[in-house]
Amino acid sequence: MLTTSSLRAALHASTDLQIPDVEVFEEIDSTNAEALRRLKSGGSGISLVVARSQTAGRGRRGRQWLSPLDAGIYLSLSQTFSQQTSGLQAMSLVTALSVVEALCAVGAANLQLKWPNDILVDNHKLSGILLEMHSAGDMLGLVFGIGINLDLPEELRANLDRPVTDLRSCTRNRVDVTELIIRICRQLLGNLSTFERAGFASFVPAWNALDRYIGRDIVITDGQHEKTGQSAGVDADGCLLLRTASGLERIGGGEIFPSLQALEDGES
Ligand code: BTN
Repeated sequence: MLTTSSLRAALHASTDLQIPDVEVFEEIDSTNAEALRRLKSGGSGISLVVARSQTAGRGRRGRQWLSPLDAGIYLSLSQTFSQQTSGLQAMSLVTALSVVEALCAVGAANLQLKWPNDILVDNHKLSGILLEMHSAGDMLGLVFGIGINLDLPEELRANLDRPVTDLRSCTRNRVDVTELIIRICRQLLGNLSTFERAGFASFVPAWNALDRYIGRDIVITDGQHEKTGQSAGVDADGCLLLRTASGLERIGGGEIFPSLQALEDGES
């Protein structure tokens, strides 16, 4: 069972990883909320909050992230940066790529990405990412919230409005949760330092190779406005490139359609 002391011991043994502040909760409202509370009370540097269940897990676009006990990995890695740090949009894509790399290393296959940061297997969502931030003075605290479905109860799947999958269904061997958490942290911290040094450009080919929607006709909406075109992948800022009747447009945020359900039903 995952506990604060077991995770600290495993991290301690991973001598290349320095995460001074690590805590595992059996239950918490939201690991992102806890990471933000720590930043607001003056926390700095790198910190990791993990929970075995969340009572108010947060998803993108104001959605809930249902988080029953041990049905998923619920973690928030936070890091403080200087206020000059820019490119939050791209950092959320870097997070998704880091999680994909870690998942592949523990045996997950056929992973694809849905911009900006959903991880899919065969049109089913396996993992979602929510970046949140807190700034104070010249410090910018970023919280990288990561949810990965491990072993979803049947009734939860049935109540979700989109196709989902879990690691139990898409890996041959049982995944060691501690190992996966450590791999995610190692990959993400390494990729963030590459990003800080050199930006997103070097990540673009990896992203586009995994993009589920590249080359497809899509609609992108921010909830109020819709744009239609063909997805041309992402650019060096992590923006989505949309080939429209009036030329190539860069999109900074929004949600892509067709939905996973429509893909699954064979719409495209
Ligand atoms: C999404 O909507 O796809 C993003 C889901 C992000 C869920 C994770 S679980 C750990 C962290 N804590 C939260 O409250 N949310 C993120």
